[in-house]
Amino acid sequence: MNAPELFDIKALLFQVRKSKSQTDIARLLDVDVRTIRRWETGETEPPAFASHALKDLLPPIFVSSVKSEFKFIDLFAGIGGIRQAFESIGGECVFTSEWDSYAQKTYAENYNSDSHEFNGDITEVDAKDVPDHDVLLAGFPCQPFSIAGVSKKNALGKAHGFADATQGTLFFDVARIIDEKRPRAFLLENVKNLLSHDKGRTFDVICKTLKEELGYHIHYKVIDGAHFTPQHRERILIVGFRDSVAFDWNAIALPAKGEIKLKDILHKTDGSEPYLPWDGDRFFDHASREVLSKYTLSSKLWIYLQGYAEKHRVKGNGFGFGLVGPDSVTRTLSARYYKDGSEILVSQGDGKNPRRLTPRECARIMGFSDTFRITVSDTRAYKQFGNSVVVNVMVHAARLMQQFLRDDMQPELPL
Ligand SMILES: C[S@@+](CC[C@H](N)C(=O)[O-])C[C@H]1O[C@@H](n2cnc3c(N)ncnc32)[C@H](O)[C@@H]1O
Repeated sequence: MNAPELFDIKALLFQVRKSKSQTDIARLLDVDVRTIRRWETGETEPPAFASHALKDLLPPIFVSSVKSEFKFIDLFAGIGGIRQAFESIGGECVFTSEWDSYAQKTYAENYNSDSHEFNGDITEVDAKDVPDHDVLLAGFPCQPFSIAGVSKKNALGKAHGFADATQGTLFFDVARIIDEKRPRAFLLENVKNLLSHDKGRTFDVICKTLKEELGYHIHYKVIDGAHFTPQHRERILIVGFRDSVAFDWNAIALPAKGEIKLKDILHKTDGSEPYLPWDGDRFFDHASREVLSKYTLSSKLWIYLQGYAEKHRVKGNGFGFGLVGPDSVTRTLSARYYKDGSEILVSQGDGKNPRRLTPRECARIMGFSDTFRITVSDTRAYKQFGNSVVVNVMVHAARLMQQFLRDDMQPELPL
C-alpha cells in the first residue's frame, strides 16, 4: 500500500473514532482491538477491506462531538434500523423489544454491546418494568382499532379512555408505555397507508390518543426513502414531545430524489466490489466477478411472472413485476420479497433472466452499512430488510429532534 492510501485510512479512522470506540470498530471489522490501535499509530498496515469498511462506518451525516447523552427504548425493534439513527446522535439504548427469534439473532449480532436484556412480546411487558428513558422509538405494525376493546376495559381496570379505542392492538402497548413512563419524546414509524387505513379512523384514533389522552405535541410527515437510496419507500413518521417545543418538519434538509442510482448499490462486476470477510462469497463470487446464479430467476418463474403481469395488464390492473436497470429507482422492498422477488427484478441483459437483489444489496438499498452482519438465511434476511427502515431517513429525523432531547437545549414556545 502506498503512503497516501495509508494516510487516508488514518484520516478515516480519525473520523470514525469521533462516533465509535476502538472496541466498537474492532467488533464491526472483526479484528482485535490491538489491531485497531496499531493501525492508528501506523505500526501495521490495514488490509484493503479496512478502507471500504471504515468509509462505511462514517456516520451518514456529521456527528457533533457534543454527545446528546440521552436514553432511548427500541420497541418493535426488528433489526434496529431506527436504533442506529439515535445511536448516531449519541443516544444509549436501554430497552429492546422484538419477539421474532430470527430478528433477535440479527439484532444481537449487530448490537452486542448492550448491557440490558432482550425483551420478547411487548404485550407481556408491564410498563412499570420498562426503564426510564428520554425517547421512545417504535415502528409498530398497523392494525385496525375495533370497538371490541371496550369490553376488556373494565376487566383490566384501565382508567384511560385510550384503552377503549385501542385495546388489543400493538399501538395500545406503545400508548400504555408512554402513559406510564412519560418520555420527553417519541418517534413512531409506519407505512404511509396509516393515514388512509380504515377510512382514516386508525390515524384519527392514534392522533387523539397521543394528543388528547396522553397530552403530547405531535408532528407528522411522510418521507420517501428515495431521497437517500434508489428505492421509492414512503413512510409516515410521527414525532411527539411532552413539552411544547419548536420542532418543525420543514427544517429537514432532504437531498433531491433519484441522485443515488441502483448501480450505486448493486454488486460491482468491474472488479471494484469490496471483499467483506463476513460475507465472503455468499452473495457474490469475487473470482468470476458475478452475482451467484441462485439469484437469477428460473425460466419457469420468469415465464409465470410475465404471464401474470400480462393477464393483469389486459384487465387494466397495474400489478406486475418491476424490472429495473442501473439507473432505476426501485419499488418498495417488501417483507414478501423472498417469495418471487417480483417487485424488484434486476435486468441482466444478454437474453438472461432477471435476478433478485441479494440480501447484501437489500441491506444497501435500506441504507445499512456494509459492516452490518447478515447471519440468517436469505429468506429471513429478505423479510428483515423488507420490514425495516431506510436508516438515513431516520438519521435525519433524529438530527431534527436532537436539540429538543436535552434540557439545556429546549427553547420553549409561548403556549
Ligand atoms: C415493521 S417491523 C419494525 C422494523 C424495525 N423498525 C427495523 O428497523 O427493523 C415490526 C416488528 O415488530 C415485531 N413485533 C410484532 N409484534 C410484536 C410483539 N407483540 N412484541 C414484540 N415485537 C413484535 C415484528 O416481529 C417486527 O420485527
